[in-house]
Amino acid sequence: MTVVTDVADLQALAKRRVPKMFYDYADTGSWTQSTYHENEAALQRQKLRQRVARNIDNRSVKTTMIGQDVAMPVALAPVGLTGMQHADGEILAAQAAEEFGVPFTLSTMSICSIEDVAENTKSPFWFQLYVMRDRGFSERLMQRAHTAGCSALVLTLDLQVLGQRHRDLKNGLSAPPKPKPLVLADLALKPRWCWNMLKTGRRQFGNIHGHVSGVDDMSSLAEWTNSQFDPSLDWSSVEWVKKHWDRKLILKGINDVEDAKIAADIGADAIVVSNHGGRQLDGALASYEVLGDIVDAVGDRIEVHFDGGIRSGQDIFKAVAMGAHSTYIGRAFIYGLGAMGKDGVTKVLEILHKELDVTMGLCGETDIANVGRHNLVL
Ligand SMILES: Cc1cc2nc3c(=O)[nH]c(=O)nc-3n(C[C@H](O)[C@H](O)[C@H](O)COP(=O)(O)O)c2cc1C
Repeated sequence: MTVVTDVADLQALAKRRVPKMFYDYADTGSWTQSTYHENEAALQRQKLRQRVARNIDNRSVKTTMIGQDVAMPVALAPVGLTGMQHADGEILAAQAAEEFGVPFTLSTMSICSIEDVAENTKSPFWFQLYVMRDRGFSERLMQRAHTAGCSALVLTLDLQVLGQRHRDLKNGLSAPPKPKPLVLADLALKPRWCWNMLKTGRRQFGNIHGHVSGVDDMSSLAEWTNSQFDPSLDWSSVEWVKKHWDRKLILKGINDVEDAKIAADIGADAIVVSNHGGRQLDGALASYEVLGDIVDAVGDRIEVHFDGGIRSGQDIFKAVAMGAHSTYIGRAFIYGLGAMGKDGVTKVLEILHKELDVTMGLCGETDIANVGRHNLVL
């Protein structure tokens, strides 16, 4: 195996080790995937101003996110089915994040449950909520997250209906995978994944399975889940969530200046400028393309977080320089997890940290707090 030097190396390894349907689930966008690819391309197009002969000894990329100390301006984004990229994936990723000193966000659609992750970590993590048609269930989810000590709720607003991802339909995505001939042939090539999966009991949607009456087997679970995303979700639903959650609230999936203003008026603690990693509205602007305008509109009233397309420390630096308070990584950590489990997530964090630190130095800065648009070629 060649030496792992960047996120792309881990992605290549994950592609070899993770069953096709789950690798494809991560490495995909909706419809033509134009927004998915633009997220990365927009960051690539941004050029940096290199500065020289400045004392760049003693650098620090430490900062805070919603008042919490973090080792760098990065959190692990909520990613559904993380426990299908690697057995017990949510627990392993949360442990890696905890040890590195960055927040971990557990998806509603996780395999390991809120309680599973809480039992296997020491510090509070964040919980991402999808508001379901069954509001009683959503309320119970918030209570469970509260009891588990989650310090922030990340409310996702951009998935009232699902953007179609062709590969998931073609692959017959399900958790656990259905034993069809093509799937079995693929699994035979992924013995490490199968062995780890056989050793764990966590193979269903942990936050849902056993928590909704009448939903006890795989097909009723899938049916219930698909019918539960709520197209009627609106800003009054956000107020409703706010009433039921007395800790930090982050609104995720903001991609428009007008929506950012409403989110700031509502009194959330942060917004995440995000288009769900290009998995929802194909044709929407790349996250990085809307970031600057949103920062200008609400950046003095609310923490503006950012995700979409981050694959390197240079990308993190660009987002922060454009005015993001901090960033999230989705696929980058998922590839690390699929490639090497917990060690792979740690490796991704180490790679990003080093790239961010060196990039900051070469731009002539020593403290991430001083990074700004003056570092960008605009
Ligand atoms: C496989 C996958 C599953 C995701 N599941 C969720 C989810 O359950 N909840 C959510 O709010 N966002 C979800 N997202 C979106 C991520 O939180 C994040 O916005 C996105 O991955 C950022 O883009 P990046 O992957 O290019 O870093 C998912 C993304 C991926 C790639």
